[in-house]
Amino acid sequence: RFHRRNRPCRYDIDQFTPGFMSIFESLVPSDEEISKQKQLLTTLSRLINKEWPTSKLYLYGSCANSFGFSNSDIDLCLSIDDKDMSKVDIILKLADILHAGNLQNIQALTHARVPIVKLMDPITGLSCDICVNNLLAVVNTKLLRDYSQIDKRLRQLAFIVKHWAKSRRVNETYRGTLSSYAYVIMCIHFLQSRRILPCLQEMEPTYYVTVDNNICAYFDQVEKLNGFGAQRKDSLSRLLWAFFKYWAYEHNYTRDVISIRTGRIISKHMKDWTRRVGNDRHLICIEDPFETSHDLGRVVDRNTISDLRGEFERAAEILQYDPNPIVTLFEPF
Ligand code: GTP
Ligand code: MG
Repeated sequence: RFHRRNRPCRYDIDQFTPGFMSIFESLVPSDEEISKQKQLLTTLSRLINKEWPTSKLYLYGSCANSFGFSNSDIDLCLSIDDKDMSKVDIILKLADILHAGNLQNIQALTHARVPIVKLMDPITGLSCDICVNNLLAVVNTKLLRDYSQIDKRLRQLAFIVKHWAKSRRVNETYRGTLSSYAYVIMCIHFLQSRRILPCLQEMEPTYYVTVDNNICAYFDQVEKLNGFGAQRKDSLSRLLWAFFKYWAYEHNYTRDVISIRTGRIISKHMKDWTRRVGNDRHLICIEDPFETSHDLGRVVDRNTISDLRGEFERAAEILQYDPNPIVTLFEPF
């Protein structure tokens, strides 16, 4: 496919940054969209608090972690302390409350791995999913958002990587490829390795919560870290190129686990992730920053690992040799 030998080396990689920047800008949600999301959060909070006064509704996922594209669905999490009701009962009652509040297309998915209620708000036109007591997701949302405020290149890099993954169909966990959440963690790890981002969980904690026996502690005064990576002047296109090269040729898939918690690579051996246990195959190892026994790459199987690595190689080659990477990189699968 690519005729390596006849092509020059890419001394001109930086010239593609403006092109990638315009793609990034075209994906960022507008201020109007963000205020509609806030409006929906307020509407739903009022409605739910009438029934459950001490509950609290949180935005999480891409609409709150700063890595969301425009027109993406909204993820909400209801935090509720009700010992007499099971999660399924709460979901069913929530569906009734929403029904009475004139929300539309309400579906209670009680048998899903994470039970949710889906709905559409006719006033804003937005669709959203509400889960119950999934507070770890609320906390990891904050961690990702905090990282994004340290160096603006993280958000740019992750947007392009997510857009690439969606175009190439390697962002489908039900098919055995990686979640958007996993891709953002891969970008954070990569920028930590380049000293463009610090490791917030290795610093003196200023934020501290315990969620389901997981201690979540890290330095969250990120405004004090502004300019942390400013000495490293790599452009967006250069970082993209290096990101894909890392996952195509440099990452050691048999030995390594990436860990943004420690800011380093750790060994599979140390985590006992060297063999398949149940459905967890550990063919690409991405440690969750708080649920450290959790490998975000567990969904990847024998077939999809080679699809994924093939796509990393394709992307690295395009950035290295293609005359028009801004178009070719995102060509539909
Ligand atoms: P889009 O593709 O733009 O919808 O991105 P997204 O950030 O909403 O992604 P995704 O659907 O992958 O995840 C939504 C949120 O759920 C993430 O931001 C995390 O907070 C949480 N999450 C997703 N997967 C996991 C996981 O495996 N473990 C944990 N602890 N949280 C997860
Ligand atoms: Mg989402």
